[in-house]
Amino acid sequence: MSLKNDLILRAAKGEKTERTPVWLMRQAGRVLPEYREVRAKMGGFKELVETPEFACEVTIQPVDILGVDAAIIFSDILVIPEAMGLPYQMVEAKGPWFEKTIKSKADIDQLRIAHPEDLHYVIDAIKLTKKELNGRVPLIGFAGAPWTIFAYMIEGSGSKTFSKAKKFLYTNPELSHLLLQKITDSTINYLKGQIVAGADMLQLFDSWAGILSPEQYNQFSLKYISQICDAINEVPMTVFAKDAHFARRDMGKLNCNTIGLDWTMDIVESREMIGPNKTLQGNMDPCLLYADYETIKKETIKMLKAFGPNRHIANLGHGLYPDLEKDKVKCYVDTIKEFRF
Ligand code: CP3
Repeated sequence: MSLKNDLILRAAKGEKTERTPVWLMRQAGRVLPEYREVRAKMGGFKELVETPEFACEVTIQPVDILGVDAAIIFSDILVIPEAMGLPYQMVEAKGPWFEKTIKSKADIDQLRIAHPEDLHYVIDAIKLTKKELNGRVPLIGFAGAPWTIFAYMIEGSGSKTFSKAKKFLYTNPELSHLLLQKITDSTINYLKGQIVAGADMLQLFDSWAGILSPEQYNQFSLKYISQICDAINEVPMTVFAKDAHFARRDMGKLNCNTIGLDWTMDIVESREMIGPNKTLQGNMDPCLLYADYETIKKETIKMLKAFGPNRHIANLGHGLYPDLEKDKVKCYVDTIKEFRF
């Protein structure tokens, strides 16, 4: 089916667009009262993710309510560890928790390589959402980058330092590569399944990129991201590696269309490091959206001008915080949609 609004896909491919397109990380979520309502009817976050009708409903909410130029399928990066054999729980007000973690070679050997059938609920949610969107905007699929998934599999929960995961890299480099390769193979299968189901574009989230040294990042993260980029050529791919300042030059060489920036990355410097052949995505500090309307508008226009008219997909530098006001989020989106160079 042809898309009525394909601005994001065109920007990703480097084509000129009438205006800068916009979507927001975590656009479906607690910032929308409509999401909290659906969420309250469910047993919890996982039930929402695992029930295609509800996942579809909350995926489309931000398109209707915020007017963003893309939907992102409502799921989580942690579905991959679960499909490989490590189930997770989303503990209210605390975050993810895994009862089993990876400690030894035997643990890694026991993990399965995931296939799309293992994640049929995401695949079904994508199919249903494509049908319900009826071509209004593209649908973005996603997965965690292998290093970030590895970090949760070793650590077993969120962490400020992920020192257990980093300890594993230093003390078991060979086992680390074995595990990272299994995650990579699972992720490629999963993303291919998302494309077959209808995803128009994909994003890899490397949320914990910034805690590795540049050398470790090349060895344990970029190597596997680059395998995924090389394996997926059917739809545009975005790589977002949070805080990975040191990796920007190398990321310019990845076989992907778009690189995500966080707000700590200078826009002009990033363009110079990444080069002219990638679309850049980002990168406003989500905390700007706590400011007054005038400040939001002023800073948003400043950001748009720094990126320039071409090869930019507007977004935030990380996900929306749940306590932001919906109207201020909408002000950010509207300012971008109304601006013309
Ligand atoms: O709108 C969207 O962006 C799509 C849905 C989406 C979610 N998680 C839903 C979610 C996406 C793309 C993710 C990715 C994700 N999940 C990442 C990478 C992006 C990032 O934030 O760095 C990571 C690290 C996770 C793991 C995760 N999921 C954590 C650490 C938490 C707990 C913290 C929190 O925000 O509550 C989650 C839960 C989660 N994933 C929520 C949502 C909407 C909140 C759960 C709720 O509704 O109670």
